[in-house]
Amino acid sequence: MEYKRIVTYVAMLLAVAAATSPAAGLSDQEQLGKNLFFDTNLSEPKGQSCADCHGTEVGFTGPDSTINALGAVYEGAVPGRFGNRKPPAASYAGDSPVLHWNRMWIGGMFWDGRATGWTLGDPLAEQAQGPFLNPLEQNNPSPRAVVDKVLASYYSPLFKQVCGVTYNVTGYYECVARSIAAYERSNEVTAFTSRYDYYLAGKLQLTAQEAQGLTLFEGKAMCANCHTSKPGPNNARPLFTDYTYDNLGIPKNPMNPFYYEPEWNPKGLAWVDEGLGGFLKSNGNSSKVYQPEMGKFKVPTLRNVDRRPSDTFIKAYGHNGYFKSLKQIVHFYNTRDALPTCNPKMAGLMPGVDCWPAPEVSKNINKAEMGNLGLNNTEEDAIVAFLKTLSDGYVQQ
Ligand code: HEC
Ligand code: HEC
Repeated sequence: MEYKRIVTYVAMLLAVAAATSPAAGLSDQEQLGKNLFFDTNLSEPKGQSCADCHGTEVGFTGPDSTINALGAVYEGAVPGRFGNRKPPAASYAGDSPVLHWNRMWIGGMFWDGRATGWTLGDPLAEQAQGPFLNPLEQNNPSPRAVVDKVLASYYSPLFKQVCGVTYNVTGYYECVARSIAAYERSNEVTAFTSRYDYYLAGKLQLTAQEAQGLTLFEGKAMCANCHTSKPGPNNARPLFTDYTYDNLGIPKNPMNPFYYEPEWNPKGLAWVDEGLGGFLKSNGNSSKVYQPEMGKFKVPTLRNVDRRPSDTFIKAYGHNGYFKSLKQIVHFYNTRDALPTCNPKMAGLMPGVDCWPAPEVSKNINKAEMGNLGLNNTEEDAIVAFLKTLSDGYVQQ
C-alpha cells in the first residue's frame, strides 16, 4: 500500500473503533455538565432537572409515557405551568451550526431556532442558559440564583476547578452552559452505539426488512433529503438532520395543555405555533423575511427515535407530539395529500385512517418531498423497521 492509502486505512480503522467502542470516561468539564444536567436542586421550587424532560432511557427526550400519549408537553417546576412544545432530543444536537441564512435558514437550537448561537458562538451552550430561567421550566429568578445553588452543591469543588475560583456571575453562568453542552456532546450522551453504526462500520448486516427500509429512506420515500443518513466528510457519522427547517403540515395537537393557560397563552385555542417564522417575526425582521418561514420547524435528528424502556412505552413525534407512533408519522408522510381532510367535527378521532385533520399552518407546506409517496403498507413497515436500528445501546455479542 502506498503511504497515502495506509494513512486513509488507519484513519478508517480509528473511525470504526471510535464508532463502536463503549463510552470512555468523562473529562472534568463533561462530568460537571453531567452533575448539572441531573441536579434537581437547580429549579425554583426544587425538584426538576434537565433529565426530567430529557431522560436517558428514551434518547434524551420526554421520559413519561402518559404525558407523551396526551399533550406531550411537560410541566415545569411550578405545578400547572406547561410548556408549549414536545422536548426534542438533547443528544446529537452539538453539531448544529450558528443560525444563518444561505438560500434558506440553517442551524440554531430549539424547534424554532431561537437559541441562535449569536451570543456565545455555540447554539448548544446558548440553549443551556434558557431552561434554568424559563418560568415554564426550571423557573429560577436570575443567573445569580443558579450560580449560587451550584456553589452550594456537593460538586462545587469540581465546579471551581473547571470554572475558576473568582466569583463572577456572567462568567460562571456561561461556564455552566458550556459544561452542559460538553456533557451533551460527550460519548456518554452522543454515543453512536446503534445497530446502524455497527452496520456502517461493517460489523453487522441489517435484516432484509431493515435494508429495504434504508433503501426506501434514501430513495423513493426521500427521507434522507433532510434526515442525512450517509457518513459525511472525514467519515463523520450521520446525524439524520441537515439543520434546515420545513413545514410538514402537522395538525394541531388538541390535547396540548398550553391552550388552557391564559396567563402564558392569552390567545387560548386560537394560538398557532408559527415556528421559525414566529421567532424571526419576534426578532424584528420584515414580513418578507418571516412570512416564508411561518409554520417551519427544525429537522430533528432521528437517532434514538424509537429508543424506549419497554415496548408498551409511548413516544410522541413532531414538535407538538401529535403522532404517537412511528407508523403513524410515516403513514402521514406517505398519505397526507392522498387522503381527504377530516371533517372538523371528526378531526383527530381516527387520524390517518381515512382522513387527516387540517394542518396547523397551511402556508409554506413542503409538497415536493412528501405527502403522496405511494408507499404500500409493507414499505411503510420497512421504514419503521429501519428507524428502529437507530437506537443506541446495542451490544455486539
Ligand atoms: C420542563 C421540561 C424541560 C426542562 C426542565 C428542560 N427542557 Fe430542554 N427542552 C424542552 C422543550 C419543550 C424543548 C423544545 C422547546 C422549543 O423548541 O421551543 C427543549 C429543547 C431542548 C434542546 C434543543 C434540542 C434541539 O435539537 O433543538 C436542548 C439541547 C435541551 N432542551 C437541553 C436542556 C437542558 C440542558 C436542560 C437543563 C438545563 C433542559 N433542556 C431542561 C423541555 C425541557
Ligand atoms: C423536507 C424535509 C423532510 C423530509 C423529506 C422528511 N422529514 Fe422527517 N422531519 C422533518 C421536519 C422539519 C420535522 C419536524 C417537523 C415538525 O415537528 O413540525 C421532521 C420530523 C420527523 C420525525 C419526528 C421526530 C421527533 O423526534 O419528533 C420523524 C420520525 C421523521 N421526521 C421521519 C421521517 C421519515 C421516515 C421520512 C421519510 C418518509 C422523513 N422524515 C422525511 C423534515 C423532513
